[in-house]
Amino acid sequence: MKVLVTGGSGFIGSHVVDQLVDAGHKPVIYDRRPSPYRDDIQTELGELSDLTMLELAMSGCDAVLHLAAAADVNEVAKMPVESEAANARGTLNVLEAARGAGVKRVVYASTIWVYTGESGERVDEESNLGMPNHLYTASKLAGEMYCRSYNELYELEYTVLRFGIPYGPRARPAAVVPAFVGKAMAGEALTVAGAGDQSRRFVYVEDLASGCVKALDPIAANRTYNLVSDSSVTILEIAELVQELVAPTGIEYTEQRTADYVGVEVSGVRAEEELGWTAVTPFAEGVSRYVEWRREDEAAAPVPMQPVAKVATEGFTTALTRVRKSVAMPFAYAVASLMMLAAYVVAVDSLGLPDAQVGTLAVTMIAALAVFLLIELMWRNPKTRAISAVSSALVTAIFVFAVMTPWGHQVFHLATPGRPLFVLTITGVALVIALASAGIALARRRGLIDDVAAVRLSA
Ligand SMILES: NC(=O)c1ccc[n+]([C@@H]2O[C@H](COP(=O)([O-])OP(=O)(O)OC[C@H]3O[C@@H](n4cnc5c(N)ncnc54)[C@H](O)[C@@H]3O)[C@@H](O)[C@H]2O)c1
Repeated sequence: MKVLVTGGSGFIGSHVVDQLVDAGHKPVIYDRRPSPYRDDIQTELGELSDLTMLELAMSGCDAVLHLAAAADVNEVAKMPVESEAANARGTLNVLEAARGAGVKRVVYASTIWVYTGESGERVDEESNLGMPNHLYTASKLAGEMYCRSYNELYELEYTVLRFGIPYGPRARPAAVVPAFVGKAMAGEALTVAGAGDQSRRFVYVEDLASGCVKALDPIAANRTYNLVSDSSVTILEIAELVQELVAPTGIEYTEQRTADYVGVEVSGVRAEEELGWTAVTPFAEGVSRYVEWRREDEAAAPVPMQPVAKVATEGFTTALTRVRKSVAMPFAYAVASLMMLAAYVVAVDSLGLPDAQVGTLAVTMIAALAVFLLIELMWRNPKTRAISAVSSALVTAIFVFAVMTPWGHQVFHLATPGRPLFVLTITGVALVIALASAGIALARRRGLIDDVAAVRLSA
């Protein structure tokens, strides 16, 4: 099976890529950065916001394993707009691209954080979910809902996987196990929030990756699975284990954090019964493998990045196709619109009105277009808002001078429109604005105008 792995350069995605290869599948990575772990896998560098690029990358794929996301809850809290764009709208784009490319199934990486706040002893995939309180959970749940909607509307198959808390080689340094191991290696005491009795359903990352591969099975179509281990570990137990495996550097207790996952017990029975998947790696074994990897990683020379020449050559053809696909259509639209506007002016001219009156009509349409574009394209970005206001006021002032004053009429050879021309002018302006708004909407959809980036750059 040819499978696109979004986020295939990341922590979990890179293990998924490894296991897809081991299982005889052909993975393709879609990520904004090259994989630091593999240079033998086809990689398409792109953003989740780039619908055209996503669709191109999916061509010929049977399934998509969608893992790319803003996955660090603290980063999400720091960058809410970008995180929502990646997690919610990014997932929508993946589904839309899959629909366009004729992909059969999208497997979506969600999280057991969706159960935060649930009451009762144990929750499973059928449990009702409450309203999320963290933006990370809200944006991941939005992705789950989009998967379902796409199935209802377009019959695109989905599988939702709610991951337990992953740990293991390649983990982000800020996660709890890497942070404890890092501190112990540096000879520092480990910090535990509260009494350290918060328990978590950790899952070893290679087990998780094998669950992702199993989720490609036909039985998993339109199903949701919790991928969790069957035992919980407390933060204090992790600290004690790390002390034992790395060095006895001591434990310090601090205040409880607000963004911690304080969930109920999550059942993994459905994944076991339907996919034959369980987390097989005991926690102590997984942490020991992580410590071993971390020692090797720190001792080794920096991992060579994917050869630049290869990425550049592979990317060149794709880039050309991308430019052709994303620019050709808006360009054709712009040409057709200009021809339509010119035809309108010629048609008005053929009514036999004086030249000055027809000139007024053409100038009014051009001025309306200029003011509309200046406001629509520059007002949203606070950095260009002042330019937008001043330049559109200037265009309006010149227009009023040229069309409404006797001096303007002399300089520009125009006339104040009479009643029949007034109606024709209003119609022309409406036509210009309708065509321009549709053109801008098309360019935004193709990623040629990125308002989120504009706002971000200006922040
Ligand atoms: N790590 C966890 O604790 C955890 C827990 C449950 C679920 N998940 C989910 O698992 C998935 C993978 O998480 P991870 O821990 O491997 O994260 P990660 O940050 O290690 O990997 C995410 C990858 O996605 C890429 N990416 C992010 N935004 C992108 C964008 N807009 N366009 C293109 N590429 C983009 C990044 O470059 C990165 O390589 C995510 O969907 C996450 O929500 C993670």
